[in-house]
Amino acid sequence: MAQVSFFNGKQLPLEMHKVRIVQKLNLPPIEQRLQAMTEAGNNTFLLQNKDVFMDMLTDSGVNAMSDQQQAAMMIADDSYAGSATYTRLENKLREIFGMEYFLPTHQGRACENILAQTFVKPGMVVPMNYHFTTTKAHIVLNGGTIEEIISSKGLEVVSVEPFKGDMDVSKLQAIVEQRGAEKIAFVRMEAGTNLVGGQPFSLQNLADIRKVCDQHGLLLVLDASLLADNLYFVKQREDACKHMSIRDITRKMADLCDIIYFSARKLGCARGGGICIRDKAQYEKMRVLVPLYEGFLTYGGMSVREMEAITVGLDETMDEDMIGQGPQFIAYMVEELKKAGVPVITPAGGLGCHINVMEFLDHVPQSQYPAGALAAALYIAGGVRGMERGTLSEQREPDGREVLANMELLRLAMPRRVFTLSQVEYAIDRIVWLYRHRKMIGGLRFVEEPAILRFFYGRLAPTSDWQQKLVAQFRSDFGDSL
Ligand code: F0G
Repeated sequence: MAQVSFFNGKQLPLEMHKVRIVQKLNLPPIEQRLQAMTEAGNNTFLLQNKDVFMDMLTDSGVNAMSDQQQAAMMIADDSYAGSATYTRLENKLREIFGMEYFLPTHQGRACENILAQTFVKPGMVVPMNYHFTTTKAHIVLNGGTIEEIISSKGLEVVSVEPFKGDMDVSKLQAIVEQRGAEKIAFVRMEAGTNLVGGQPFSLQNLADIRKVCDQHGLLLVLDASLLADNLYFVKQREDACKHMSIRDITRKMADLCDIIYFSARKLGCARGGGICIRDKAQYEKMRVLVPLYEGFLTYGGMSVREMEAITVGLDETMDEDMIGQGPQFIAYMVEELKKAGVPVITPAGGLGCHINVMEFLDHVPQSQYPAGALAAALYIAGGVRGMERGTLSEQREPDGREVLANMELLRLAMPRRVFTLSQVEYAIDRIVWLYRHRKMIGGLRFVEEPAILRFFYGRLAPTSDWQQKLVAQFRSDFGDSL
């Protein structure tokens, strides 16, 4: 992103785009917000968007598209088989990643289904820097287990470490020696490591992992859903890459991998997904599952219009100005919260701003889902919808025991190019207010708990009347403000 200095000395992220389509927002009064949260079972996934002022639930499928993407959607070639749209997407992926084969899917988790069904057999293990919810679910469903071997610095909440998404390579080596290479389905690296706060890995770390994979004949799979942020950070933070173009860094990463899959709801700012594969035999093994679960091989469940948008979006991902906006806005939000004393994950990562709820609500035990409670409180206090990323997002052990998460995070995703800085200031203001009144916030308990991916549609209730008290405090502090 262009480095623009301000005469007044302020360090503000300056957008290198202008907005030409807008959507009106609604901010209901706090009493209605409490009611909406109650009706949603204290689960932000179950809120209606009409009741949400700032939707910071995710950056998945909700990033602003460019004019070029919208224009490309008009030339989509609608045909069941042999569509020219598909060829354009396939060629763009080949150009960027340099892998010969491509399988289209309807979104990222569909890639995970295909990869897990193809490579994970009962008793196998998938070492990874860190899990993502849907990734783990698919591996476990196929009888496998995961080993999270993120470097110890990755779980340090407050840090200046530039690459908290790095894998501990010595731990990978140890797993191979203990379990045997034949028990390892594949090694998975996740770009912009989601559940530890959108933290990147370095190109050097990927190269070190590759060496171990080469020694033992292991497959290296990259989850590139959050690659855009990771690329930006590598360029900003890794000395060896400072003078490389984003395109060159991308190719260097891709050259180290055997398979790259992605959610195009994130990478490419549209809606879809896909798997890029270097080896023909692996491609053929996975290919049989695409018509079964996704759709014919030239659309894989995606709309052709979205495919055109992805092709352009991928090209725009190679533009530092385009991919810098998210990380810069996130860094601004993290810095401002830090100044106000609010515990946040540092350094600022990609994806969004992550509040460290273990500290924010240190009086709420993990068994009462503190990150879920803070998500509910922030919606009530400000109409801002975030996402719980903590114990609630974990799955119970088969015997019913809770898996207490390593981190309790409230993730406030920053959909790219969607919010203005004053909206971000508003979110900061409401979070700081909540921090001042944090002792008023209590816990949650399940009322309805689904067995799989419970965070998506489980329903919870507050453990006391803390939410009513919070509303009363808001009225006393803010008068009749919305
Ligand atoms: N991998 C990563 C790293 C992701 O962040 C996601 C989705 C997926 C895979 C699955 O992709 O949603 O297209 O099926 N993350 C979204 C989020 C849901 O909000 O962080 P999908």
